[in-house]
Amino acid sequence: VSASDRNSFLSRLAEIVGARNVVVNAADMEPFLVDWRKRYRGKALAIVQPATTQEVASVVRACHAAEVSVVPQGGNTGMCGGAIPNDAIPSIVLSLSRMKRIRDVDPLNDTITVDAGCLLAQIQQVAAGVDRLFPMSLGSEGSCQIGGNVATNAGGTAVLRYGTMRDLVLGIEAVLPSGEIWNGLTRLRKDNTGYDLRHLLVGSEGTLGVITGVVLKLFPRPKSSLTSLIAVPSIEAALALLTKLRADCGERITMFEVMSLNEFDLVLAGQPDLPRPLGGDSPWYVFLELTDPLATANLNEALETSLAAAFEDGIVTDAVTATSLTQAENIWRIRHGVTEANMRAGISVSHDTAVPVSSVPDFVNRVDDEISRRFPDVSVYYVGHLGDGNIHVVAIFPRDDYADPDHFAATLAEVNAVVDEIATSLGGSISAEHGIGQSNRRRLAAFKEPLALDFMRSLKAMLDPTNIMNPGKVI
Ligand code: FAD
Ligand code: MLT
Ligand code: ZN
Repeated sequence: VSASDRNSFLSRLAEIVGARNVVVNAADMEPFLVDWRKRYRGKALAIVQPATTQEVASVVRACHAAEVSVVPQGGNTGMCGGAIPNDAIPSIVLSLSRMKRIRDVDPLNDTITVDAGCLLAQIQQVAAGVDRLFPMSLGSEGSCQIGGNVATNAGGTAVLRYGTMRDLVLGIEAVLPSGEIWNGLTRLRKDNTGYDLRHLLVGSEGTLGVITGVVLKLFPRPKSSLTSLIAVPSIEAALALLTKLRADCGERITMFEVMSLNEFDLVLAGQPDLPRPLGGDSPWYVFLELTDPLATANLNEALETSLAAAFEDGIVTDAVTATSLTQAENIWRIRHGVTEANMRAGISVSHDTAVPVSSVPDFVNRVDDEISRRFPDVSVYYVGHLGDGNIHVVAIFPRDDYADPDHFAATLAEVNAVVDEIATSLGGSISAEHGIGQSNRRRLAAFKEPLALDFMRSLKAMLDPTNIMNPGKVI
């Protein structure tokens, strides 16, 4: 881009959103050009922060005219570098952070309509204010945006009971790559009028349009809840416990998460203020939440009966149930502390595998054997959503040994291949909830059926023929 073209483009953006919302100063741009885990760094002509859907549409049209690509960015907490420009083409980062309006709350319809830039935690709070639950729960909920959650089809810890983001979205408003505004903000639970553009945009990671508004489902707020941390001797025992609790407690299980001992130790080592809830060491821990809409439900009694039988069967060795809100929060802080702990421990790469729930033990045991045999200097930790068959194999590479980026990239590709081959042999997927972004494009190409990839490319070409929307991501 020549200097005069660049200046007239930036002036046009300033006309649309106001000069102070077009950030060009290098220091102010910096936080938008590096991802949360500091694995990707990009360049941009500007960070542009529109305040309304109309402004987003005008910005996209201006980018079209100037042949500049648009990289949508929410809270920039994504795992795959999707919100960071990849530098092949001049880009702007379009940040949704000024779009934080709650547009409508309808408790009788159990819906909330919001701007895409609302923080996930903000939506949870507004829902609680009308005695409803918005159930999505992630470690990044204080900084990720709902538009980012929709664009990545986020998962988190409550998927077992309430589903992924895809299951929680009723309507979407988006600016398409053409600059047109698609108003799909329906509050309907049933609408069978042809192809569903909403489901194309969910999980599209900014490649098919900019999500500007969302209608979300709300749920009754549970009046009883219980959090328990349970020590189990093996991953097989964790699965047996899940099966038992499903039979005993059914839909009351809202979260059933697992963590290996080394991951548990890593989180606690980095947060010395957090109490260790159970004495001794256990190879695996289960993080459990039970809830019930009835204030009088006796969850404690139900769990105690189940756990007593599980102790007898040898699938549980110890357990603690939180007796206060603080204790429950501290247990969940351990669960939600993994990403930060992993980042501190070295160059951390979190695989995001899904396999059938019944195959999780096989998956973990095979990965453990293969990685420790072939890559003895790479440490492997496990954390995940056992109830969804989604296990994160976290490979941590010592920073000093892997300072050379080529050595790191080559070893990482081999580690990825080991994990992906085992997952594929079990009928699994290379991404359950984090997405593809720029990290996993090559793995996607190796894993996905060619027909499905062709179909994805055709859709992208149809909606975005000039490829201005987040190029170099996903496909
Ligand atoms: P960003 O990182 O800003 O963007 C992610 C992708 O979405 C990019 O491709 C971007 O272009 C696109 N995008 C963002 N906003 C829009 C928009 N309005 N329109 C179109 N495209 C858009 N993820 C999980 O699924 N489960 C977890 O348990 C989980 N735990 C996490 C814990 C921590 C501590 C951290 C840091 C991250 C975690 N994540 C988890 C990953 C991340 O928080 C989610 O992927 C989240 O949904 C991303 O939201 P964001 O607003 O930060 O999006
Ligand atoms: C989680 O489940 O905590 C995340 O998806 C984290 C991660 O893989 O780092
Ligand atoms: Zn996860």
